[in-house]
Amino acid sequence: MTDTIFKPGLEGVIAGETTVAAVEQSSLAYRGYNISDLAQNTTFEEVAHLLLYNELPTSAQLAEFQTVLAQLRPLPAEVIQMIRLIPTEVPMMDVLRSAVSFAGHFDPVKGDSPDDLRRRAVWLMAVCAGVVSARYRLLSKKEPVDPKPGLSHAAQILYQALGEVPDETSVRLLDLTLTLYAEHEYNASTFACRIVASTMSDLVSGIVTGIGTLKGPLHGGANEAAMAMLKQFDSAEEASEWIQNAFEKKQKVMGFGHRVYKNGDHRAHILEDELRNLAEQKGQQKWMAIYDAIKEPMVTQKKIFPNVDYPCGLTYYLLGLPIDMYTPLFVCSRVTGWSAHFIEQAENNRLIRPLSRYVGSSAREVVPVDKR
Ligand SMILES: CC(C)(COP(=O)(O)OP(=O)(O)OC[C@H]1O[C@@H](n2cnc3c(N)ncnc32)[C@H](O)[C@@H]1OP(=O)(O)O)[C@@H](O)C(=O)NCCC(=O)NCCS
Repeated sequence: MTDTIFKPGLEGVIAGETTVAAVEQSSLAYRGYNISDLAQNTTFEEVAHLLLYNELPTSAQLAEFQTVLAQLRPLPAEVIQMIRLIPTEVPMMDVLRSAVSFAGHFDPVKGDSPDDLRRRAVWLMAVCAGVVSARYRLLSKKEPVDPKPGLSHAAQILYQALGEVPDETSVRLLDLTLTLYAEHEYNASTFACRIVASTMSDLVSGIVTGIGTLKGPLHGGANEAAMAMLKQFDSAEEASEWIQNAFEKKQKVMGFGHRVYKNGDHRAHILEDELRNLAEQKGQQKWMAIYDAIKEPMVTQKKIFPNVDYPCGLTYYLLGLPIDMYTPLFVCSRVTGWSAHFIEQAENNRLIRPLSRYVGSSAREVVPVDKR
């Protein structure tokens, strides 16, 4: 084994091929469609179809996709019962991880053909959304509500969480974040899912692995961590003071930096424009001032740019959603990208099993336990 192929964190290493998405310095595309184009011209359901079925749907295909999703939406009563048993202080990401695993025992889709896997992926979209909404309801001391026919996926999540049909702005912005979060090539959680697929394990196990991996603050957990940081401040001045202190302490600032994008994350640009409008519309410019007080020095002094989690945290906050729900909402979206990669890996599989470089003690002999 040569040292030349060892890269800590696999940085810069091409670990496989994919047709699902391309992530480059200056662009992100899902199956060839630029993310800005998708963000402007499609809904999340169209993006989900693109990822799972390789093409944007025709009107008829979209209607069929929405019908199947609606049929698969009601959660088994056992899953709701299980969520009730989890202590209220448990983070929603942990609840989601456990509930998806448990729901797997009630999988309505039989078989393991690529089409069965696609249908199971649509069911998992429904499960993730249903669990997040039901948990929100139960934490609010209210009973879960049944799905409402005719709502988009984003509207359904909000409706089942809040118990009332959400306003247009909230739906549009949640839909946009679902589109921006849906897929990102060989990121940590997707790679973890592909490893699960490569052992010929099952899709539910892959998604549970993805959830566990996404949870960390260096990955999807950053949207919650970024908002928790912003919430400490009452003014832009306080934020300015804090960031200079963070520089001195060489502290990581959540929602900034990226392994691939070193000159900015275009998903963050797309969302930040919408966030500015939202803050103005809600008369919450104070939050944008705090947001900018952190962002400006990060960009000008450190040349480290916001990633999509930075504007997303504040967007969800201004939509009135609890911080604990942000990374679970990311899951509601990324379950599509994970599934697309799982299916791609399963269809053209080779076990993923890299090597390590041993840096432990040199060869030694066992001394019997009574002589150690
Ligand atoms: C995402 C992340 C893990 C990428 O890390 P990476 O590719 O390994 O980059 P590195 O950690 O090697 O960073 C390179 C330099 O930039 C600094 N840096 C990177 N992100 C930073 C951040 N968010 N805050 C402060 N400094 C940061 C590092 O400290 C390092 O500085 P050094 O060379 O003086 O040691 C990292 O940027 C990070 O931890 N960001 C915060 C968490 C986050 O927002 N995650 C969501 C990603 S979408």
